[in-house]
Amino acid sequence: MQVVKYMFQPHGDERGQLVALEELKDIPFRIKRVYYMYDTVSNVVRGQHAHKTLEQILICIHGSCKIKLDNGKEKKEVLLERPYEGLYVANNMWREMYDFSSDAVLMVLASEIYDEEDYIRDYDEFIRFVKSVER
Ligand code: TYD
Repeated sequence: MQVVKYMFQPHGDERGQLVALEELKDIPFRIKRVYYMYDTVSNVVRGQHAHKTLEQILICIHGSCKIKLDNGKEKKEVLLERPYEGLYVANNMWREMYDFSSDAVLMVLASEIYDEEDYIRDYDEFIRFVKSVER
């Protein structure tokens, strides 16, 4: 399983840094939704679900956190700690977010609007779903 991390181009000068993200250029899909998590309580594990169609880019724009990706066969852990790196999370991928630093802000760019129907929140159901789409 390949972890796809995007390194965005910071436009730095003597005033500081700026990162600009454009859909279908820096981000591989049209961005229909942006949300972010902050003030995450320590030891909390967020996510713990997969999506049937949604694609996302996760950017820890402040602080750090870890992401576990699981495609049903393999698991990978990724540390996000730079505001110019983005983790691509495909559909049919179980994800968990944890080890948030107290100052962490995790921003998510999403390819679809919020749709509870697209979620798989049960791990066994996720495994069954992955096997069914493989066939
Ligand atoms: P939840 O799915 O529990 O977040 P996580 O996957 O990070 O654990 O979402 C928390 C709440 O926010 C829940 O009540 C649904 C709501 N929500 C929206 O209204 N819109 C959104 O785009 C998202 C991601 C969540």
